[in-house]
Amino acid sequence: MPYPVYIGSGLLPQLGSLYRRHGLGGRALLVSDETVLELYADTVLDSLKANDVEPIPVGIPAGEASKSLHMADQLYERLIRHRFERNAVIVALGGGVVGDLAGFVAATYLRGVSLIQLPTTLLAQVDSAIGGKTGVNHSLGKNLIGAFYAPSLVVADLGTLASLPQREWRSGLAEVIKYGLIADRALFEQTEALVGKLDARAPELESLVSRCVSIKAEVVGEDEREAGRRKVLNFGHTLGHALESITEYKHFRHGEAVLWGMLGEAFLSQRFGALPEMEFVRIRRLLSRLEKPALPDLDEQTLLAHVQRDKKNQDGRVHMVWLRHIGKCQVQPIDAKQLREVIGFWATET
Ligand SMILES: NC(=O)c1ccc[n+]([C@@H]2O[C@H](COP(=O)([O-])OP(=O)(O)OC[C@H]3O[C@@H](n4cnc5c(N)ncnc54)[C@H](O)[C@@H]3O)[C@@H](O)[C@H]2O)c1
Repeated sequence: MPYPVYIGSGLLPQLGSLYRRHGLGGRALLVSDETVLELYADTVLDSLKANDVEPIPVGIPAGEASKSLHMADQLYERLIRHRFERNAVIVALGGGVVGDLAGFVAATYLRGVSLIQLPTTLLAQVDSAIGGKTGVNHSLGKNLIGAFYAPSLVVADLGTLASLPQREWRSGLAEVIKYGLIADRALFEQTEALVGKLDARAPELESLVSRCVSIKAEVVGEDEREAGRRKVLNFGHTLGHALESITEYKHFRHGEAVLWGMLGEAFLSQRFGALPEMEFVRIRRLLSRLEKPALPDLDEQTLLAHVQRDKKNQDGRVHMVWLRHIGKCQVQPIDAKQLREVIGFWATET
């Protein structure tokens, strides 16, 4: 389902008028984590009030633990106690945690109310706020409960990235590099030139975020429910998700695990697939420049067990995104025997 995405600096103060322009209702629940609430909620609240929208702000603790059914229940309670009706609007101000949680609540409260995504991390602006995946974690696994639910509006204010910690920049940059690798050689080359120099004032930021959003929108537009093509967005994630789950989501930021995952999957693409050696060397050089936490001690069995839980797997076979060139990829099965070689390769990178 198509929806407008605004990208630029200084957009938060214009939220109220965008809200009205897109015909949204009169009452809004503003959901944010406590860090972001402190930084940007006043701007959003003032802009909504100036346009006769009645907003109620709710802060949740920052961090992955808030992406839970328990926290969703607390938000339902607010909505019910304040008598929000079908024309309610949930405004998600924050990173992927807030966006996924608030999006899930919007998808399920009264069988669905309007949702606005206001992403404030690079990762959320280029990835999680686009594409309609919402959800929470279960004690038995990440993102296991959720819904595909499109927002009515996405407003990515690049100015909010000025307060983003360095680690979060790196985590978002990993996803930017991923888009270049799977779909756009020129974007990959742009990231090569920008690594270490990118910040909220960089003149290239707007075109970079816009390009990532276009790639994601184009892929998702063809395959909203991940039956086929959307799986290419998972390059680096077969191994990345396994690393996150082995370390119980405490050791890596999502993008940091994806950086290790992309290194490993690029290696496998060269070793057993069609990726030319020279391309691999170039990818490795870029990914190695980005600081990331060291890998944990890994054994083959543990890695395989975690990779086998990947959502892309079909009929019991592990599927991975294979790079053919920088900017071209395909999804295909991979053998356990081949996967094992990645541990030895990673050891040469630490
Ligand atoms: N729905 C999807 O398609 C999708 C895609 C990728 C990732 N995700 C999910 O996204 C989540 C990760 O998102 P994230 O990396 O944005 O993490 P996050 O939401 O935890 O935010 C990271 C940290 O940055 C802080 N922060 C956010 N914006 C800030 C700002 N402008 N200035 C200062 N601090 C700021 C937050 O308080 C938090 O501590 C994971 O739960 C992951 O599963 C979802």
